[in-house]
Amino acid sequence: MSSYLNLEGPFKVESDNCKYTEDAIISDYTYETTMVEGNTIKPVSTKMQFKTETKVPKVGVMLVGLGGNNGSTCVAAALANKMKLTWNTKEGEQKSNYWGSVMLASTVKLGNDASGNAVYTPLKNMLPMIEPDEIVWGGWDINSMNLGDAMKRAKVLEYDLQEKLYPHMKEIKPLPSVYFPDFIAANQSERADNVLTGTKQEQLEQLQKQIKDFKSTNKVDKVIVLWTANTERFASVEEGVNDTAENLLESIQRGEEEVSSSTVFAVASILEGCTFINGSPQNTFVPGVIELAREKKVFIAGDDFKSGQTKMKSVLVDFLVSAGIKPVSIVSYNHLGNNDGRNLSAPSQFRSKEISKSNVVDDMVASNRLLFEEDEHPDHVVVIKYVPTVADSKRAMDEYTSEIFMGGKNTIVMHNTCEDSLLATPLIYDLVILGELFQRITMKKEGSKNWETFHPVLSLLSYMLKAPLVPNGAPVVNALFTQRQAIINVMRACLGLGPDNHMTLEHRFE
Ligand code: NAI
Repeated sequence: MSSYLNLEGPFKVESDNCKYTEDAIISDYTYETTMVEGNTIKPVSTKMQFKTETKVPKVGVMLVGLGGNNGSTCVAAALANKMKLTWNTKEGEQKSNYWGSVMLASTVKLGNDASGNAVYTPLKNMLPMIEPDEIVWGGWDINSMNLGDAMKRAKVLEYDLQEKLYPHMKEIKPLPSVYFPDFIAANQSERADNVLTGTKQEQLEQLQKQIKDFKSTNKVDKVIVLWTANTERFASVEEGVNDTAENLLESIQRGEEEVSSSTVFAVASILEGCTFINGSPQNTFVPGVIELAREKKVFIAGDDFKSGQTKMKSVLVDFLVSAGIKPVSIVSYNHLGNNDGRNLSAPSQFRSKEISKSNVVDDMVASNRLLFEEDEHPDHVVVIKYVPTVADSKRAMDEYTSEIFMGGKNTIVMHNTCEDSLLATPLIYDLVILGELFQRITMKKEGSKNWETFHPVLSLLSYMLKAPLVPNGAPVVNALFTQRQAIINVMRACLGLGPDNHMTLEHRFE
């Protein structure tokens, strides 16, 4: 009987379509798509080459919100893994791991061996990529608390692990940050004791200098900046203010109110040539930022980590709709007691979260006109409440009601309890690992002389993000496994391998 095997070590592709040079993997690839013209369907083949630079750089990651629950957990867990720490819990000894990271703890099917066994490889072995153990972590927080105490304040990791990490963590202190109080909840003001001063332009320049200094002090080749600070309110998009790159830069110069802290961070990163990822729901990426990223050819990705309830939703609704079942109401309640929950208890910050959580089923609903009329949507309601007692252990309760066969109704209810930051932190690793890898991949179409980079709006990171930002005119994909398959198939293309089609025809005929 055939079974499942894991290929643990590195592998090499033996094919005319895949060449390994000293510093790159170059693949020949035929991209097969399907063109629909009215009722006529035509297969389309496009020949291209992919080039993946194989030298893995030394990377620094600067987190905005370093002292928060995600920020401190991210650094603590990377350190614990690097030091291979173990700690005691009431259930026995626990070892450090990267569970929850699709890049570090999941496998992907490579193919079959001669006996018909399905052979899997860790996703991280597909192409050369950075290891979180090697990343230099740093960043900003408006609160000056050292990371040892911030980790204790977060109440995420076990006590025994905190004790082991504290001496290392307490040496790390956040850089002073840009703080525009109007954008986050008023209840956050007491944390703000570590802030930059000066005009908006001066603060932008200070951020740029902090990035440069971090890069040179730590001797890293690349810096990635990731926003995991408080959710901001939406900035209003206004003509002449933030609608173009030029207007946005001028607005910062004249101290325009409507430019948020996160937008100033995004601009600083782009001007420094550093990928910027937004883990919160607000519209950091106003049109002016997107234009600037395109002009400077720097990656941006967002918005809002897809960690728990929404991840579930982007699986469950995909299942329902693709099974021919019609979800008619989705009601999501959350309560949480961490600082994120406190910030979200203010109406305009809650509104940002509500928006990013709301559109997540749109693509799946729109894809099935048998079930849904044009412009018909399930009722979709999101409630978030702040309950201090539960701290980081967020509760998410969801009720899905669907119409099924012959007028029947089906209701699925789910209750999810989990440390929020233990779900979000592995996504930070994934975002930076993939964000870095995709900088080393270029593509050349047959007949063209130019190697093209991915579009600066790096939508391949959508798997980790609740409200994926996509290039203008591109359809948004929320369905989780479609997003995962896109990443895997791009990696396979870089090795000259066709997409995994799951047909397993070798086992379907006698
Ligand atoms: P947190 O409140 O514990 O941490 C945020 C940190 O950002 C705080 O330490 C705060 O002092 C700092 N901060 C606020 N404004 C800042 C600024 N302008 N510059 C630098 N630092 C600033 O929140 P947590 O739980 O770490 O979440 C962070 C963000 O990630 C929130 O926006 C949250 O909505 C988002 N998120 C979290 C998820 C999760 O934890 N599962 C899932 C999806 C999104």
